[in-house]
Amino acid sequence: MKIAVIGCGYLGAVHAAAMASLGYETVGVDVDEAKVDRLRRGEPPFYEPGLPELLRAGVDAGTLRFTTDISEAAGSDVVFIAVGTPQKAGSDAADLTYVDAAVESLLPHLAAGTLVAGKSTVPVGTAQRLADLVAPTGASLAWNPEFLREGFAVEDTLRPDRLVYGVADGDDSAIASLDAVYASILERGTDRLVVNFATAELVKVSANAFLATKISFINAMAELSETVGADVTQLADAIGLDARIGRRFLNAGLGFGGGCLPKDIRAFQARADELGHGETLGFLREVDQINLRRRDRMVALVEQELERVGGDRVAVLGLAFKPNSDDVRDSPALDVARRLQEGGRVVRAFDPEAKGTALRIVPTLPIVDSVEEAVDGADVIALGTEWQHFRDIDPVRLAELTPARVVIDGRNALDAAAWSAAGFTVLALGRPDTPAA
Ligand code: UDX
Repeated sequence: MKIAVIGCGYLGAVHAAAMASLGYETVGVDVDEAKVDRLRRGEPPFYEPGLPELLRAGVDAGTLRFTTDISEAAGSDVVFIAVGTPQKAGSDAADLTYVDAAVESLLPHLAAGTLVAGKSTVPVGTAQRLADLVAPTGASLAWNPEFLREGFAVEDTLRPDRLVYGVADGDDSAIASLDAVYASILERGTDRLVVNFATAELVKVSANAFLATKISFINAMAELSETVGADVTQLADAIGLDARIGRRFLNAGLGFGGGCLPKDIRAFQARADELGHGETLGFLREVDQINLRRRDRMVALVEQELERVGGDRVAVLGLAFKPNSDDVRDSPALDVARRLQEGGRVVRAFDPEAKGTALRIVPTLPIVDSVEEAVDGADVIALGTEWQHFRDIDPVRLAELTPARVVIDGRNALDAAAWSAAGFTVLALGRPDTPAA
């Protein structure tokens, strides 16, 4: 089987490498020459555990190649569309420029028998519009949303919880093509749902909206907990033991960021507005607001503690939007660091992987190369991303390296008792303060 993947970002690069690892002759196509050059050498243009090995294996075996020439997609059995759908400048809606350009440039290279399978997250109604464009070539179109998480992208692609095929009524050949692509995954008993275009599009955005809502729900409880003296982590444990609720995605803290959840809930609302359903998804505006308020709270806590100790130097641990990623798109941690710096504080930040990506967005942010350098001379320590590297810090040793005696845990990730025993006062989002022992 021959596979093409258009777009080699987080989604496409992983998908192309995964397709090659299943034994298919795979070509990844991207307009970015520099990105393609790196991928050809088997180097991912971003940090993703497991991806370097998978890429190198495919490139070395000759089953995986990368190109900027879309005509090389000709003759493929399945062409996946995996380009980005970022937030439109000056609007909440999704920018479909890349999806439209990918399909337009693909049209001359399509023929009967080829399946175009959309993976990008798109507003409901897009797949039908693209199917109409593709139809005259004799090829057909399906929407096959992807649910991968950064940091677990390889695992999520090769071992998904479920496969969703959005197909036109009666398009059995589209179903057969996707079944052939995913044969080894289906053999393991993975659930596969065949639905119409609109359902497939909605499955993706509603899954992300639900996850964002779950996070903002617990963060709303964190806001209340701060006022009444409750501990939101214990609350999450207690409600999470109800199997109907579940403990996952109930980690209160700085909230969600990244290239998906924030822009997807905004695009979903924008699309609902267009469909005359603004009120239906009005709650997502609250979800967004609760999420953004956690960043304000974190900045306020750092400011409060700096005032209290009479200092202005803050060590920020973590810049990526979540651990095991160098992605800083809409990152709560980077936002907090930037706002503290803009407020005139002396920031020194460290992230195990996101220095380069963060500097591209905030070139003036002082980013050092270790926890030790970040906390050297600091008055307050603020944790913004829950990397294992930070959980593993020995607070007793750290206390010898820094004058700071306050740590503000923006992710409820640190062992407050151990930090307190080492002489730190621990402040956290949604929990009572733990004074230094
Ligand atoms: C998300 C979806 O999980 C994935 O299915 C979809 O395909 C793309 O969007 P991703 O953006 O990689 O994936 O990250 P995810 O693990 O979902 O985390 C999103 C954000 O929520 C992160 O900033 C994370 O720190 C935050 N988060 C997550 C919380 O604040 N609390 C939680 O309990 C869980």
